Amino acid sequence: MKRIIIITGASSGMGAEFARQIYADKSTKNHEMWLIAREADKLTEFAATLTGKNVTVRTFAMDLCGAAGAERVREILDKESKRGKFVVDMLINNAGFGTYGPFIETDPTREMMMVDLNCTALTGICGFALPHMQRGSRIINVASLAAFLPLGNFAVYAATKAYVLSFSIALAAELKEHGISVCALCPGSVSTNFANVASNGKRREVLHGCDPCRVVAHCLKKSARGAKIALWRPKWKITAFMSRFVGRYIGARFTYLFNKRPH
Ligand SMILES: NC(=O)c1ccc[n+]([C@@H]2O[C@H](COP(=O)([O-])OP(=O)(O)OC[C@H]3O[C@@H](n4cnc5c(N)ncnc54)[C@H](OP(=O)(O)O)[C@@H]3O)[C@@H](O)[C@H]2O)c1
Repeated sequence: MKRIIIITGASSGMGAEFARQIYADKSTKNHEMWLIAREADKLTEFAATLTGKNVTVRTFAMDLCGAAGAERVREILDKESKRGKFVVDMLINNAGFGTYGPFIETDPTREMMMVDLNCTALTGICGFALPHMQRGSRIINVASLAAFLPLGNFAVYAATKAYVLSFSIALAAELKEHGISVCALCPGSVSTNFANVASNGKRREVLHGCDPCRVVAHCLKKSARGAKIALWRPKWKITAFMSRFVGRYIGARFTYLFNKRPH
């Protein structure tokens, strides 16, 4: 039976790193990898770098935003069903973005798009892929360290990632008997194009970002062992733990006052 691995936001940053590492893994053989993002050229160029194995890499250039985005994934799954039996071995819901700045100064349309991509599409894609999963299948949902506390100057983003974390853990609990694991990746700063997008080009690099290779490698290892949350750096683990003792309002007010973000 055909075995499929789906990675969203696979054209850059952590998504591309997931694709590289999963492609290179010795357990990935005779699989089909589906890489999804909006920019067709970037996606094709990246896919062309994945060579040398009996793994078919297919690219799907599509906007995943909202219910319509999730429906597009349903359509390709339905089309595949008509061709024959297959199983989704792994789903990595990684596509997402943030916006920096106080909510009142940001574009509400962009904030709604963020909820549509980070929450609505991720939920729908999980729902549409699950009927094609079986015992041993894995879901990785990319949340963030921002999921643990409301953040000023990052209000909607932190709220979307709190949703991803909460949803992923509840889903892991519900799928335990089905033998399907769900892991929420909760990284702090990682060197990708994230800050450039979130700041509208005003901050090119993620401040103090760490190497996406190591974050992704750790996440894949943890998810293979059935972990519900992947937090790589000790500093991130401490932050996530300590956030339980910080008042939600205090956390938001403190970050609003002292963690300004260019926007
Ligand atoms: N970098 C960090 O510090 C950090 C920390 C915590 C969590 N995260 C999370 O990590 C995930 C990956 O982000 P990244 O840091 O790797 O950023 P990135 O380099 O900007 O990558 C984002 C990816 O998502 C795709 N994407 C964006 N909007 C899309 C849409 N509407 N439909 C389909 N694909 C879309 C992008 O490709 P196209 O533009 O071609 O569509 C790109 O492949 C996100 O969920 C982000 O929230 C990042």
